[in-house]
Amino acid sequence: MSNLKLIGPFKQLLPMSGLSLKGAISDSELTVLEVAGILVENEKIRSVGKFDELRNTYSEAEIFHLEGDHVGLPGFVDSHTHICFGGSRANDYAMRNAGKTYLEIAKAGGGIWDTVTQTRKASKEELIKNTVKRANRHLKNGTTTIEVKSGYGLSFDEEVKMLETIKEADTKTAADLVSTCLAAHMLPKDFAGSTEEYLHKISSKLFPILKEKKLTHRIDAFIEESAFSGTQIAPYFKKAKEMDFDITVHADQFSTGGSKVAVEFGAVSADHLEASTQTEIDLLAKSNTIATALPGASLGLGCNFTPARKILDAGGALAIASDHNPGSAPMGDLLTQAAVLGAFEKLSNAEVLAGISFRAAAALRLSDRGKLEEGYLADFCVFHTHNFNEILYNQGNLKPCMVWKNGELVYNKHKTP
Ligand code: NIG
Ligand code: FE
Repeated sequence: MSNLKLIGPFKQLLPMSGLSLKGAISDSELTVLEVAGILVENEKIRSVGKFDELRNTYSEAEIFHLEGDHVGLPGFVDSHTHICFGGSRANDYAMRNAGKTYLEIAKAGGGIWDTVTQTRKASKEELIKNTVKRANRHLKNGTTTIEVKSGYGLSFDEEVKMLETIKEADTKTAADLVSTCLAAHMLPKDFAGSTEEYLHKISSKLFPILKEKKLTHRIDAFIEESAFSGTQIAPYFKKAKEMDFDITVHADQFSTGGSKVAVEFGAVSADHLEASTQTEIDLLAKSNTIATALPGASLGLGCNFTPARKILDAGGALAIASDHNPGSAPMGDLLTQAAVLGAFEKLSNAEVLAGISFRAAAALRLSDRGKLEEGYLADFCVFHTHNFNEILYNQGNLKPCMVWKNGELVYNKHKTP
């Protein structure tokens, strides 16, 4: 039985339609619908247009009337997070700010390995509870799709545990969680063997289980001095490709090299890129790999931002994600971070909003979200304001008053259902 709902009238509705996947976008290219409505049928958008016309044509629809001025945007897509973890790294943060570098702290036993230890100690129930709690906070802030990486397990059993946790957490939150296997986050300190042996073990033993148990279709690796080199990762990615996994890369965070590997392997995205130079920028711009800026990691580590302006001007596709993790990006507030990146990198509001909607959806190869158009998922967030420019201007301080996911009202500031 079909279930029609009409939400509106919106003072402004931004469907993010008709914009290119790659390159710069000016604000004048944005379509801004006025006195608009969204007609929802079950979990999808049936139509977007003038509120009165939709109300007259679909008189049977249940009306969700918006009193006062509201702006509607597609639900945000956060295409890179590590929200499944145990413990905290507040002490790392304090040490870094007192002068130690990220790599020094990692070498001294802090860093990723510390979170691995805490995550292994946590029970599955505890991890599920915390992942759901973080996902629900992001959902309330307008993010309806959240990528979540493993990578704090770093053994066959512990990586399976993390990916099962993420799968189960997905059933307990209204947000969609998209999992990624990041067993190649670093060489585990307790592995008795070489880097090559570890990667071989994961790709030959874990990859088939990921397929069999449908735990993920995405493989990520951290290509960096302190983690894995491009040469070490090549056979790992080759195997992943043969098995039809999508590839994504932690690339060019502190030193270059990762983005080249990402492009060579046709990765769906190359993320971080704080160290990328014009050579890497041009390489990415010519490819189909989405360049993903992670301003939360720049803010957490106190380092420079991804050269987002240059990537867009070179013709690249730019997504913006939170990288929410206990080490480098503890804040986990996508809208704040995207707004701050926009201010530092001189991005148009259109470029920032594209980076957290349809361009981020493309980084996850999801073509059913990130825009408000017929046939897309009815995932959208509503802000109590008269002008969409107010949203990024408030740098995350203006939160959604309503969030809809799959055609359901999942957050309502006035009345939590
Ligand atoms: O994306 N760069 C590597 N991985 C994460 C950090 C994870 C951690 O420090 O726990 C990142 O920043
Ligand atoms: Fe990351």
